Amino acid sequence: MSSINLGSIYIKTALVILLSTLLFGCLASLSYLFPELLIDSFGLVSLRPMHVSAAIFWILLSATACVYFGLNQLFHERINKTMALMQYALWIIAVLGVFYSYFNKQFGGREYWEFNPIWAIPIALAWILFLIQFFRTVSFKIKWPVYLYMWMTGLTFFIYIFIENYLWLIPYFNQNIVKDISIQWKVNGSLVGAWNQILYGSLFYLMDKISGESEMAYSKTTFALYFLGLFNMLFNWSHHIYTLPTQEYIRYVGYLVSMTEWIFLLKTLYQWKAEISEVKKYQSIFAYRFIAAANFWVFLNLIQALIMSVPAFNLYTHGTHITVAHAMGTTIGINTMIILAASFLFMSEPNKTYSKHMHQVFWLTQIGLFMLWLGLILAGIYKGFWQMSERAGSFSSMMEQSKPFFMLFVLGGFLLSVGLGIIGVHLLRMPKLIKS
Ligand code: HEM
Repeated sequence: MSSINLGSIYIKTALVILLSTLLFGCLASLSYLFPELLIDSFGLVSLRPMHVSAAIFWILLSATACVYFGLNQLFHERINKTMALMQYALWIIAVLGVFYSYFNKQFGGREYWEFNPIWAIPIALAWILFLIQFFRTVSFKIKWPVYLYMWMTGLTFFIYIFIENYLWLIPYFNQNIVKDISIQWKVNGSLVGAWNQILYGSLFYLMDKISGESEMAYSKTTFALYFLGLFNMLFNWSHHIYTLPTQEYIRYVGYLVSMTEWIFLLKTLYQWKAEISEVKKYQSIFAYRFIAAANFWVFLNLIQALIMSVPAFNLYTHGTHITVAHAMGTTIGINTMIILAASFLFMSEPNKTYSKHMHQVFWLTQIGLFMLWLGLILAGIYKGFWQMSERAGSFSSMMEQSKPFFMLFVLGGFLLSVGLGIIGVHLLRMPKLIKS
């Protein structure tokens, strides 16, 4: 049993799911240009939940792999492989169950988790096993670097918020529509916050490995940013519910807390030069390129998120493609780039050089993502003004006039899929992990 490397098993399974995410995403995007396409078989109604669930499973299984890569290197002998494989088996049952029900057009869940809630049980059990494994494996005798704290808070809050995500099954919640929707929109934001804790923790661990300098993982600034991120995960969620008739103070708390994220933006601007020299220093390491890309997308997405969190702007952005741009800009630009950096760092020989072709594929992915993101933002701005104007034309004419933006989105999506597809297959074909 000792030769099994858990990080590799989880990341390879996640990579297969990534390829399906891209396929469903491309098919779903075509319905923007050809609404009648596939309408009798798998129209947007089916393809969207299939795409979004696959995207979330890609992120959660990869985040699990990142933690196992780390625990494997830090506490190798303490990991309980049987428990980790039971956790894996529960994930496989859930993923197969979810897609079996989707292909049979059985839904019954809520946004982002549109599958029958029965399949949430193996996911919750897998995560509880993961939590037990984490606390059994880590040592409390050593001084913890920031990434162990971030993995701990991410894992712990994920299961709490995941259970909160199913409160709608209880009549006390689902009989009050405002309470029901408030919780739903709240948990979608907070769940992202929880998995971001795990992936940002992994980013600190990756930089520790690449630079060989572990001071940063113990520095006061790093811990201050950790607490600011945690504070936002816990309290900024009401920027998702500005448009709901809830208590005023809830909205003001969300607005104020969201504005603290300006600190992240100012820090990035202030450290711009250091970032550039860091890129120059590590750019020969292929894995680092994805970290540089993630930092770039943090910057762009933070500006967008801060604008969307201002209530006056949120009135225009809510319910438009700007929300989709935000969701995909962050889950692809930040989460997916961090995961790919971890995959290349832990799955290949140290200092392995990559062909010119792979560097071109890297840039194809970035350009594709930028086109997808920009296309959705432009379509969202157009729809935002349409939905707020008194003399708005019909919905179908608005969608017709948005076609140039949708073309940019779809073309970008296809280029991105080619890029991520090539990278995904390349990583899948890598031999079993050599590093334990
Ligand atoms: C790693 C790759 C990807 C990830 C992680 C991802 C993630 C997501 C997420 C989280 C959403 C839900 C957004 C929301 O409404 O809140 C979404 C929606 C969507 N994505 Fe992706 N996506 C990926 C790639 C793609 C690609 C390549 C395309 C193809 C062009 C695509 C097309 C779509 C479409 C059409 C929707 C539905 C938008 C709507 O509701 O109208 N995605 N994606």
